[in-house]
Amino acid sequence: MLKKTAIVSLFTIISASYMAQNTKAIPVYLDESKPVEQRIQDALSKMTLEEKIAMLHAQSKFSSPGVPRLGIPEFWTTDGPHGVRSEVKWDEWDQAGWTNDSIIAYPALTALSATWNKNMSWNYGKALGEEARYRKKDILLGPGVNIYRTPLNGRNFEYMGEDPFLTSKMVVPYIKGVQSNGVATSVKHYALNNQEMFRHTSNVIIDDRTLYEIYLPPFKAAVTEGDSWTIMGAYDMYKGQYASQNQYLLNDILKKEWNYKGVVLSDWGAVNNTEQAIHNGLDLEFGSWTNGLSEGHSNAYDSYYLAQPYLKLIKEGKVGTKELDDKVTRLLRLAYKTTMNRNKPFGNIASEEHKAVAKEIGEEGIVLLKNQGNVLPIDINKAKKIAVIGENAIKIMTVGGGSSSLKVKYETLPLDGIKARFGKQADVQYARGYVGDIGGEYNGVKSGQNLKEDRSPEALLNEAVALAKSSDYVIFVGGLNKADFQDSEGNDRKSYGLPYNQDNVISALAKANKNLAVVLVSGNAVAMPWVNEVPTIVQAWYLGSEAGNSLAAVLAGDVNPSGKLPFTFPVKLEDNAAHQLGEYPGNKEELAAGKGKDQKNPINIKYNEGILVGYRWHDTKKIKPLFSFGHGLSYTTFEFGKAKADKKEMSQDDKITFTVTVKNTGKRAGAEVAQLYISDLKSSVQRPTKELKGFEKVFLNPGEEKEVTFTIDKTALSFFDAGKHDWVAEPGDFEALIGNSSDAIKTKVRFTLK
Ligand code: BGC
Repeated sequence: MLKKTAIVSLFTIISASYMAQNTKAIPVYLDESKPVEQRIQDALSKMTLEEKIAMLHAQSKFSSPGVPRLGIPEFWTTDGPHGVRSEVKWDEWDQAGWTNDSIIAYPALTALSATWNKNMSWNYGKALGEEARYRKKDILLGPGVNIYRTPLNGRNFEYMGEDPFLTSKMVVPYIKGVQSNGVATSVKHYALNNQEMFRHTSNVIIDDRTLYEIYLPPFKAAVTEGDSWTIMGAYDMYKGQYASQNQYLLNDILKKEWNYKGVVLSDWGAVNNTEQAIHNGLDLEFGSWTNGLSEGHSNAYDSYYLAQPYLKLIKEGKVGTKELDDKVTRLLRLAYKTTMNRNKPFGNIASEEHKAVAKEIGEEGIVLLKNQGNVLPIDINKAKKIAVIGENAIKIMTVGGGSSSLKVKYETLPLDGIKARFGKQADVQYARGYVGDIGGEYNGVKSGQNLKEDRSPEALLNEAVALAKSSDYVIFVGGLNKADFQDSEGNDRKSYGLPYNQDNVISALAKANKNLAVVLVSGNAVAMPWVNEVPTIVQAWYLGSEAGNSLAAVLAGDVNPSGKLPFTFPVKLEDNAAHQLGEYPGNKEELAAGKGKDQKNPINIKYNEGILVGYRWHDTKKIKPLFSFGHGLSYTTFEFGKAKADKKEMSQDDKITFTVTVKNTGKRAGAEVAQLYISDLKSSVQRPTKELKGFEKVFLNPGEEKEVTFTIDKTALSFFDAGKHDWVAEPGDFEALIGNSSDAIKTKVRFTLK
């Protein structure tokens, strides 16, 4: 008989050898106890040349291959910034026709930015990331942070406005929220894609100072503070190279200066040169227009620039494998955070929580531009009959507009939201007033609406005016929409004014009823020739699934508006810097010579206005805007105390703190955004009159007062010195200006930088 100790040691030997075998069975790249960089090197050492090349380019419209032999999964990407796009067919943009891919649409990024509330950004990212995760996506193609340069840019609604500081602060929590789900963001479109017209066929000419001060900061914040795991290169050219294969933007700035370790992916079809794609910092190629794709060739993806052509160059010894290994290393790093991350949550879709997030962001993003005579909030005791007029009260807005188009579980229309909120006490009646766009389909996703209308414009206007006359309140809901040449990808707006004769309709309604609120649904500023004729104007953006409910809550006063404009509304187009000084849509002579029509004849666009973008321009040139950057009213009133600084002088490596009290002096609870602008009083270079360097949203009950604190260091005082290629804070006097809009500074305090 074996002794007990012998049995125990036999067991120990057997289990140890079993474990040894078992540990041997786990290769390092799959061993979660090993450091990621070691796992990456191990995976890399096991991959064949062909497997590495395969990882660098798409295998379908929205996916790229992993390494099946090693159990490394594919990457699945999806648009876009406002919700998870519907499934599309393997090789086509058309929706696949699934019945289980409808999601919640969140407010467009302009609306998010208009909340000036970083918590809203985190909530947005977290909820959207959960939906992306549930839909088994690994990379979300967004957020967009291209700066608002012209109100004609068709894609402004997907971006966060004209200010690099506001955009930078708002984008970081969004990224962190999405990525907390093990889903990567892809901040886009890097860089200088500030208009849609000629986006594939233009070359931007810009000075270094403007590039670093205005157009790069949001991207830098997204990758250095937000740690966005991927970034999307843009379509346009900079220094004569396409942005998605651009030595300066990708290698010199992103990967060297900012030390970026993530993945650069191309915009869809933005690559057109293998050598540049290899050497200039691109890691992953999507959407190339190879002949294979348009001709239905089965090996289309093999013809991508980073596919067979790359392999061939390596095999012929014309390029080495250093760049290849770097690209694959980055992709594997991404895999360990997403596809191979076993600790990520499972996500969920269209939950009650997500609906609440969408509704709240919408409510906080709505901007009350004007409210003479307090037409709003609607007094329910006086509102026996409410007229709702305008096409945008009944038009689905989540379908259309380009790649951010969605297939939603539902979209509450403004008219439905207003009926739901007021319908019990008041008679809510609708008249269209004008006909705009009756389309309602994008890539096979249908809005399901029939907006056809046979009556004449006069008949529609007469009906609207008659209804307005017989009502206690008139809510006009108009603006732009997601049709081509409106707020839409791929082309720009043709003019600054409202389309479809809405100006006349609004003027007629203003004459018919003095209790008129004009609600504009758009992602862009518009001309308002009737601004002095109407008492009340609301900027309501594109608010997604909860649009109608968010709007009704603000109209009723259930929610006190607290949104602030993330970009300037100029009176007329020529008041905008890019249109007055810069080139738009491109150089005039080249335009006349037919440049920009194709990639062989690109057109140059000079950003002559330099750093004077948005309010920087209006302030400095003293051009009064229609509505200024940072503007937004409330149903209550606020008072700012006197700003104080904790010191009079600061040294170069010091910090300085400003405090100010904000008091709610009205009768309703509400929120105010305290905005800190810095003004350099004397400088050796041109500086804008002031620049936003801090903001804080404060919620206050009636009578309540809170102290707001801003701490800055010299980065808030610096300009980019192109000669030195560095930021410089010049000693001298500065002013901290605090207010609730760029044109409403309430208090200021001077200080000196030593
Ligand atoms: C757009 C991107 C989008 C991609 C995929 C491109 O045309 O510019 O923003 O993510 O398509 O749909």
